[in-house]
Amino acid sequence: MSWRVLADPESVAGAAADLVAKAIESGTRTLVLAGGSTPRRAYQVLAQRSLQWGRVTVLFGDERCVPPDDSESNYWMAMELLDRVRPGGVHRIPAELGAEEGAELYDEVVRRLAPLDLVLLGVGPDGHTASLFPGHPALEATSCAVAVHHAPKPPPDRVSLTLRVLREARRTVFIVTGSDKAEALARAQRGAVPAGMIAGAEYIVDRAAGAMLS
Ligand code: 6PG
Repeated sequence: MSWRVLADPESVAGAAADLVAKAIESGTRTLVLAGGSTPRRAYQVLAQRSLQWGRVTVLFGDERCVPPDDSESNYWMAMELLDRVRPGGVHRIPAELGAEEGAELYDEVVRRLAPLDLVLLGVGPDGHTASLFPGHPALEATSCAVAVHHAPKPPPDRVSLTLRVLREARRTVFIVTGSDKAEALARAQRGAVPAGMIAGAEYIVDRAAGAMLS
């Protein structure tokens, strides 16, 4: 694990955008976007960079079982970037079809493209990442994508990349800000939660989120 603790969320967004830009310039072909609210600013900064997006295929780490034009959709959140940069390919998770069918279809997509080059992830206050929650059976999945039910963070039905695919990725980067994530990151540092179960992962966090790191 490598940790970068930066002053504030804006610095984290800038550093994350820099990292993705450099990765694309040095040959990244498959990029997995994180969901939630934290990466949004990084995507806005990234959208202003002039990059060869035509070479890049974009995927998603997880999706909520809502329509793609729903403001709760991770795809919808990422459209702010995708509409501006027009990647060569975009594979959204068809989670509106339901967690089972969405996972089955996405599993085929990821299986063809894995191992993935660069994966961006967020962290929840309970230490979950993507839609992989502490103690949830989805953590044991051996497929590439998995249906998630009874997720403790609404909505309860979701589709997620599996821990296996995240671990096999060439590079995994967590983008985390805010004091409500401090305890989760301390537990991740000890490998006690899903956000700490990916060997060699990189963490770009702000001072508030990194406050309990040892
Ligand atoms: C989701 C996300 C989830 C997210 C964390 C952090 O769909 O909910 O993929 O894993 O990254 O919950 O969310 P925030 O960035 O909004 O705090």
